[in-house]
Parts: sequence; C-alpha cells; structure tokens
Amino acid sequence: MTTASAPGKIILFGEHAVVYGRPALAIPMTQVQATAEVTKASRPGIWIEAPDISLFSDLASLPSSHPLAAVIQGVFTALGIGSLPALTVQITSTIPVASGLGSGAAVSVAIVRALSEFLGHPLPEETISALAYEVEKLHHGTPSGIDNTVITYSRPVYFVKDHPIETLQVGTPFTIVIGDTGIRAPTKESVGDVRKLWQAGPARWEKVFDGIGEIALKARKVIESGEVQFLGPLMDENQLLLRELTVSCPELDRLVKAAHRSGALGAKLSGGGRGGNMIALVPQEKAPAIAEALMSAGAQRTIVTTVKSN
Ligand code: MEV
Repeated sequence: MTTASAPGKIILFGEHAVVYGRPALAIPMTQVQATAEVTKASRPGIWIEAPDISLFSDLASLPSSHPLAAVIQGVFTALGIGSLPALTVQITSTIPVASGLGSGAAVSVAIVRALSEFLGHPLPEETISALAYEVEKLHHGTPSGIDNTVITYSRPVYFVKDHPIETLQVGTPFTIVIGDTGIRAPTKESVGDVRKLWQAGPARWEKVFDGIGEIALKARKVIESGEVQFLGPLMDENQLLLRELTVSCPELDRLVKAAHRSGALGAKLSGGGRGGNMIALVPQEKAPAIAEALMSAGAQRTIVTTVKSN
C-alpha cells in the first residue's frame, strides 16, 4: 500500500489577474489535506474509490475527460506504462470543494504522488505539478497554474504564469484568519465570467489586472522585509479591485466588513470568489475574537493560521 497527501492552498494576493500574467502570492494550507491510497486489487482493472463524492468506478467506465481518470491516465503515460496493473486508488479529502482552497489540484497531486510511488517510479515535483496542471484545465478551463504549483511544492510562492517557481521568504511571521462563507462556487464560472468581461472591454480590465499585479508586487516586498503593518491596506486595495471584477458577493463582503469591525488589519476574498473563503490579516492576540466575529457574521467555519517560511 502507498499513501500520499497534499495540502490545500490560500491565495494571499493576485487571484484572477494571475490568469492574465500578473504575479500572485499563495501559501499551502496544511490544516486540510487530500489523501490518495493505492493498493493491489484482487481483481483485474484500475478501481477508483472516492467516497466523499460517492464515486466507485473502474477507470475504463469513466470518460477520459473525468479529472480522476485523466490524472491516473496521465501518470501511466508519463511513466510509459502500457499494460495496466490491478490496483485500487482510494481518495479522501478534508478540503471543501469549490471553496477556493485548491481541492481539485490537491487531489491530483496526491494521486500522482501515491500512484507513481506505488509503481516504483516516484515522479519529481516538476512533473507532478505539470500533470496536475493538465487536470486543472479540465476543472477550470484557463487556469494560471498557481494552485498545482503551491500545492505540489507546499511552500509560500511568488507565482507568475509560465515562469519558474519562486519561493516567497516571510521576513516576520504573520497571522491570518480564514473564513468560509459555506457557499460553493466553482472557479471555472468566476474565471469564465471575468474572461467575458475582459473580452468585451480589454483596456478597462487590463488596467484592473495591472492594479492587482502592482499590489502583489508590493505585498511581496512587504512580506519579505517583514514590514507586515503595510500588508492590511494592500489586502483592502486588492479586495476593492476584486469587487470591481464582480467576483465578490454579499456574503464575502459581509465577512470582510465583520473582520474590519472586529479589529482586522485588512481583509479580502481568496481564490475564485463568488463564495468560498475570505482571509483577514489580524494581530495574533485578536485572532480568536475575530474568528468569532466572522462566525457571528455567517461564516460556516474559520481557521487561524500563521504564515511563515517553510
Ligand atoms: C484560483 O485558485 C485562482 C484563480 O486566479 C484562477 C487561477 O489562477 O487559475 C481565480
């Protein structure tokens, strides 16, 4: 039996604009995990068990465009395996789906790791990330690649599409509270809607993307130099531009407001938006009170985490 896990992720700055080549910052979120377990099967075939989504199937019965089929097939192709062994891939995950935490990419990364190790050829991180990226295209249409990258390498990253990964050094650790609206919103839809806006008026939206990119650049400097006091206003500026992009929603706005009212230094949505999660930068000692204020404002759950270099 071989088991492998992959964390969720949080985007600190730059979502959506990152699809259009601007930089973004993201961190792994190890409090939630996707896990894949590969075992020898007693009957021929590749068996997939994903109880969380009530999926029990053999590989041959799934369409090749199904993300789980695509990732397993991707591993066989990458390893040049023609005759398929009899095995079972079991997938479980504590990462809520469609909530901006990278559940799809984490499942892919966990499967690639577990399956390639089980087959005796553990794949390097670059290949794991590349295979997960191919599957991200099925989930998202036009992904930037940030989710599979931060989840595969499991460290804070400064990411620009089609550029080599850069690790983000965190000068002084800082605390964020993550609040879940409980609304499941597929990233594909918000990314698709932003694309429609951009196609209808590229000049206007390129300016917004530039603004978000500049914020991400400033945030990188501030995080690396440890001048965290400048980070809150940058989150607020980023949130305004995300609202302009139409990817916030009343529930996210309510949590952002509640975070400010209860003493957060800045707050914004995180990920695709229209639901899912928001993040608030908080003084460490106020984290429990701010988490409680988010729950009172409708959050379904909160997680407090400290961001630091791995
Ligand atoms: C999703 O985690 C982040 C988005 O920017 C989409 C992407 O980068 O692929 C919304």
